[in-house]
Amino acid sequence: MKYPRSEAYNTPALQAKIMGPNPVKLEEELLQNHQIPAGAVVCDLGSGQGLTSVFLAKEYGFTVYAADLWSDPAENQAFFDEMGVPVGKIIPVKADAEHLPFEPSFFDAVVSTDSYNYFGRDPKYLDEKLLPFVKDGGLIYIAIPGMKRDCHEDLPRELLLSWTPEQLDYMHDVAYWTAMAHQCRGAEVLSVREMESNDEVWADWLKQENEYAVGDRKSMEAGGGKYLNFISIVLRKKG
Ligand SMILES: C[S@@+](CC[C@H](N)C(=O)[O-])C[C@H]1O[C@@H](n2cnc3c(N)ncnc32)[C@H](O)[C@@H]1O
Repeated sequence: MKYPRSEAYNTPALQAKIMGPNPVKLEEELLQNHQIPAGAVVCDLGSGQGLTSVFLAKEYGFTVYAADLWSDPAENQAFFDEMGVPVGKIIPVKADAEHLPFEPSFFDAVVSTDSYNYFGRDPKYLDEKLLPFVKDGGLIYIAIPGMKRDCHEDLPRELLLSWTPEQLDYMHDVAYWTAMAHQCRGAEVLSVREMESNDEVWADWLKQENEYAVGDRKSMEAGGGKYLNFISIVLRKKG
């Protein structure tokens, strides 16, 4: 089994917390051979309902700030308690990634799954909005939904069954994200690549019965998946 740690999180009750293709499995792939130090303080940026935060705290031992815009920190705290996470091991924070409410150089690392594409498409984002909160030498691990090849000028009809052109503009290819990452002056780009778990994470998501997963089935059942992938980006703050 390629992703054994995330398998324990593949229960109906826990998967009901996900807001897109299985973020725990994506995170396990993203963090294979990671270089984040033991006991690190990590920002789970765009943590959603907190399943990835539990994964980072329990499976990797990090202290996690679960920073998210749309979810309710009190509900997330109740979930962390239910999951038996010790008090203070995960701190839920209502936060806009564009205006993070932390001290400078606070984090050893940032891990962001299925959310960076909402705010990271601004070439200045990394230098101005995120890196100030990361320690020198700190690591940033990102997994985002993407396209095998950008096709925004001529969007395939299969994709338009589930998403508007505006929603599809959040997805781009490896070339786009490589160029975006290299515009950052304050971090070294360690890798930008297509991920392997794409089919598995989509299958886990499309089984869900929430309205978003049901909506996504239209495109995927029509073959839209052949245009899509997941992309990992790994950076290290200079200094
Ligand atoms: C598709 S959901 C994914 C959530 C979670 N990572 C998961 O995979 O289940 C996208 C998440 O991005 C977060 N997000 C979008 N824009 C944001 C912003 N500007 N600042 C912080 N979080 C943001 C939303 O709150 C939402 O939880």
